[in-house]
Amino acid sequence: MTREAAQTGIGPMALVAVEQRLPVERRIVVDDLAAALLPTPARWLISLMGTRTALRLVTLAERRYPGLWGGMLCRKRFIDDALTEALPHIDAFVNLGAGFDTRAFRLLRDTGVPAWELDQPANIDAKRQRLLRRFGKLPANVTLVAVDFEHLALDAVLAAQGYTRSRRAFFVWEGVTQYLDSATVHATFEMLGRAAAGSRLAFTYVSRDFLEGKVPPGQEALYRRFVARGAIWRFGIDPEAVRALLAGYGWRVIAQPEPEALARRYIAPTGRLLDCMPMERVVLAERV
Ligand SMILES: C[S@@+](CC[C@H](N)C(=O)[O-])C[C@H]1O[C@@H](n2cnc3c(N)ncnc32)[C@H](O)[C@@H]1O
Repeated sequence: MTREAAQTGIGPMALVAVEQRLPVERRIVVDDLAAALLPTPARWLISLMGTRTALRLVTLAERRYPGLWGGMLCRKRFIDDALTEALPHIDAFVNLGAGFDTRAFRLLRDTGVPAWELDQPANIDAKRQRLLRRFGKLPANVTLVAVDFEHLALDAVLAAQGYTRSRRAFFVWEGVTQYLDSATVHATFEMLGRAAAGSRLAFTYVSRDFLEGKVPPGQEALYRRFVARGAIWRFGIDPEAVRALLAGYGWRVIAQPEPEALARRYIAPTGRLLDCMPMERVVLAERV
């Protein structure tokens, strides 16, 4: 199960890298590092793409999994914006299930804010190699931590790597909860419950309805890929229950935009005909 989950680390950043082949005003996310952290064949392939090929790829993806492209890009952009806004008020960044995300090297560059990036050993090793290739050495503010969330106490792992709870941290937990079992999600919320007041959390989840088979029109292929076949997505939350769930761990929801609202905010200005998938939600919260 975790090996299959590890392989999903590439997907979101491959989409971001393809976006960079579009003119800047048509991009949902601007990320000059995305391609550098991909495997070499993907990096080369994407570097050869012109705008037309990139747009054609988006159309093909959209036909197969409507809303997946727009949804992933909008969640990335929402979290980028939330982190940028919070930067003056935080003294740590913790990315849980970071995959090949680039925020620590892009948005924290030159801020001095220390970052901890956690993922499965295979992804952490690959990320370390690609960072070395790109920068020649690991950026000094970033600690890469190999973990399996399902078998390790996160508090202890982070403490062993120099993270202290008294720091006001920005936690990202993006595209991860659906791959975990319920006990691990709740254990992670317990760890987050011990974070310093003023910390922020941006996380995503899949609607529980979807995992239970309530599939919106057009989402059948995605359901078959991630839920029916192999049940790689196995944890969901009821959007109505998010406020109470977070309140139970000492967090206040600041925003939980509807997918349509994200599309209006981030896709409409690009003039592109994309939607956000309806079953994934992104939440921004603050530790009170
Ligand atoms: C869909 S990817 C998202 C990556 C990144 N957060 C992003 O949005 O670009 C899911 C990530 O969660 C990680 N993950 C899933 N289950 C995990 C576990 N049990 N322990 C550690 N990492 C896990 C995977 O290895 C993968 O990198």
